[in-house]
Amino acid sequence: MKDADKSVDNRPTDSFTLTDNSTNETWTIPGRVGKMGNRLIDIKSLYGNTGLLTYDPGFTSTASCRSSITYINGAKGVLLHRGYSIDELASKSDFMETCYLLLYSELPTPEQLTSFTNDIKHHTLIHEQLARFYQGFMRSAHPMAIMVGVVGALSAFYHDNTDTTDIAHRRLAAHRLIAKMPTIGACAYKYSLGLPFPTPRNDLSYSENLLQMMFSNPAEEYKINPVLARAIDKILILHADHEQNASTSTVRLAGSSGANPYACIASGIASLWGPAHGGANEAVLKMLDEIGSADRVHKYIAKAQDKNDSFRLMGFGHRVYKNYDPRAAVMRDTCHEVLKVLGIHDPQLELAMKLEEIALKDSYFIEKKLYPNVDFYSGIIMKAMGFPTSMFTVMFAIGRTVGWISHWKEMLVDEEHRIGRPRQLYAGEKQRKYIPLDKRGHTSKKTSWSWLWGK
Ligand code: SDX
Repeated sequence: MKDADKSVDNRPTDSFTLTDNSTNETWTIPGRVGKMGNRLIDIKSLYGNTGLLTYDPGFTSTASCRSSITYINGAKGVLLHRGYSIDELASKSDFMETCYLLLYSELPTPEQLTSFTNDIKHHTLIHEQLARFYQGFMRSAHPMAIMVGVVGALSAFYHDNTDTTDIAHRRLAAHRLIAKMPTIGACAYKYSLGLPFPTPRNDLSYSENLLQMMFSNPAEEYKINPVLARAIDKILILHADHEQNASTSTVRLAGSSGANPYACIASGIASLWGPAHGGANEAVLKMLDEIGSADRVHKYIAKAQDKNDSFRLMGFGHRVYKNYDPRAAVMRDTCHEVLKVLGIHDPQLELAMKLEEIALKDSYFIEKKLYPNVDFYSGIIMKAMGFPTSMFTVMFAIGRTVGWISHWKEMLVDEEHRIGRPRQLYAGEKQRKYIPLDKRGHTSKKTSWSWLWGK
């Protein structure tokens, strides 16, 4: 794919001319530019002025909103949160500070960070009635199914007193969600093990608390491993936000109708679960298991290129990055660090590195600009820490909640925002007359069920 990126810095707003070649009618369409990034054609009034719609399934060329939270330059592998590079935040900041930055646009002062951290700590408990909600799930339920249900159920606890037009209510909803996600996730994990639900501890940092809620045993004292706590913190920072990805766009679309923020976050969790999105970290481990050994890597690299084979190299490729995902590089280094500290020699990491080495030299991956993404290494770290694969996307959701709720908040105060209501290309039947049942044909005995039940 030719380098389509036409990112610019601060160009003047220009305009474009659209010509209908069937009538030679022309229209001048206004342009837009952001602080950085690609120039845009502002089509807000296109339908009203021309009766024309644009068609862009998957929104490959469509900006759905304006945002100041995250900037990605996919061609250069750049990821900035409020202007700060992900590499700097991962190495110099921590997750609480990154949450403050995403929510409130600036790095906090020491006093602001203390106050914010304390506020988060005082919302980590969940209502006892909510804890009973888990009982409706089988112990074997996928923890992401539990997250969708339980986070959605929060909207039943905080509905009558949540006014999305009130800044204080928006802040409270944001803080509650950031605070409660680790507790809800850890309860889902403990529920699957038949163990008692954990209690958050305010004497610990956010990441230390997440570790203790996931892995502590009420019968014994739990010692925090500082290297693992730091690794968890980095994993959460790396997952905190990523511009208008599928789950964030889902939260924005749900929130655009004024829906309850807890229900909106539940919709983001549902979207994140898919293997093409946040479910890829779990899918990477399953893929590595299927590949099994380095001598089979070439076979799977070939499968990934076979148009008749639905196999994809999980953890590879990205809609925006056509260069190395900067998060994957940090994740890979953290992976080596954690495995070294734990003294683990994980053959899956060796296999993953062999797979990466071969794929990055393969002409198909080079031509399609497919590089490892954030999900390629994260699963190996989390597996080394003791998380079951089914919990990997829960960890992604815990990290991404601050991004989701920051975009939800930003959207509500953007005077340009309206309820999201895309149009379509209609491909169905033209209008036709109703046929009474006794006038319709009969299906023969041989007819296949698929025909009966539709495509
Ligand atoms: C995340 O959007 C975000 O920012 C997401 C995320 C975030 O932080 O929120 O970064 C997190 O979701 C990362 C992506 C995790 N998903 C995976 O690792 C699953 C494997 N990757 C692919 O399914 C795919 O790359 C996507 C879904 C990530 C991107 O899909 P696109 O942009 O729609 O690209 P595409 O499917 O149109 O692929 C373009 C071409 C196709 O070939 P052609 O039809 O042009 O011949 O590249 C091929 C694809 O077949 N391709 C792959 C591939 N990914 C794309 N071929 C083999 N293996 C792959 N992984």
